[in-house]
Amino acid sequence: MIEPENSLSTVRESYDSVAEDYAEHFRRELADRPLDRALLAAFAELVGGPERGPVADLGCGPGAVTGRLHASGVPVFGVDLSARMLEQARRSCPELRFVQGSMTELPLAEGVLGGIVAWYSIIHVPQERLPAVFAEFHRVLAPGGHVLLAFQEGQQPLQLTEAFGRSISLVFHRRSPRAVEQLLQQAGLERVARQSRAPVEGVERTPQAFLLARKPVVGG
Ligand SMILES: C[S@@+](CC[C@H](N)C(=O)[O-])C[C@H]1O[C@@H](n2cnc3c(N)ncnc32)[C@H](O)[C@@H]1O
Repeated sequence: MIEPENSLSTVRESYDSVAEDYAEHFRRELADRPLDRALLAAFAELVGGPERGPVADLGCGPGAVTGRLHASGVPVFGVDLSARMLEQARRSCPELRFVQGSMTELPLAEGVLGGIVAWYSIIHVPQERLPAVFAEFHRVLAPGGHVLLAFQEGQQPLQLTEAFGRSISLVFHRRSPRAVEQLLQQAGLERVARQSRAPVEGVERTPQAFLLARKPVVGG
């Protein structure tokens, strides 16, 4: 059977098959990205403190961002489709909670989260499903809660059929930050900041985009 592009099962199977190598390869990635760390630190300040509700790292992979937010005092947990990625995350952050699930349908009640980070994970959501994913983010965020997105900038998707010597099937959606911002806005999430940075030479192929948005406080 031909799988539809980036069906949840193909994404899950692809990341399951490369989880160990992925975790090893990207373990120290943030160490070389001071601007990314600065954005995560700002996000941590905005969402920190248990009174604001827990923060979900959606598409947490091996948990590098989850661990970093935890170290900044954020009450954070991770969610990922891939059981093998979650094993890696639990190994590197045994004190944190990691659950298997999809950002397309979160097993969370309305308004319970103080924040959401989706760090290079909406890249696997097909374009037509993005409005529903952002509506889901809006549903689970508390008023005043923040969402931080990281993704590759561009127009043409990248299709990979091999990674770390294994066969996979993944489409990486590159997007226009303005277009993503518009979709967030349509879902009721207002822009706080939009940042782009140049690709790290020899490592990244496109500029990198970061969007910080907020669920408004009604009457606030
Ligand atoms: C490129 S990796 C990024 C992982 C991690 N955030 C990082 O920066 O290292 C994408 C991750 O998103 C997860 N993912 C993709 N689609 C997802 C979905 N619908 N729900 C939850 N996780 C998803 C994948 O399993 C994978 O672990």
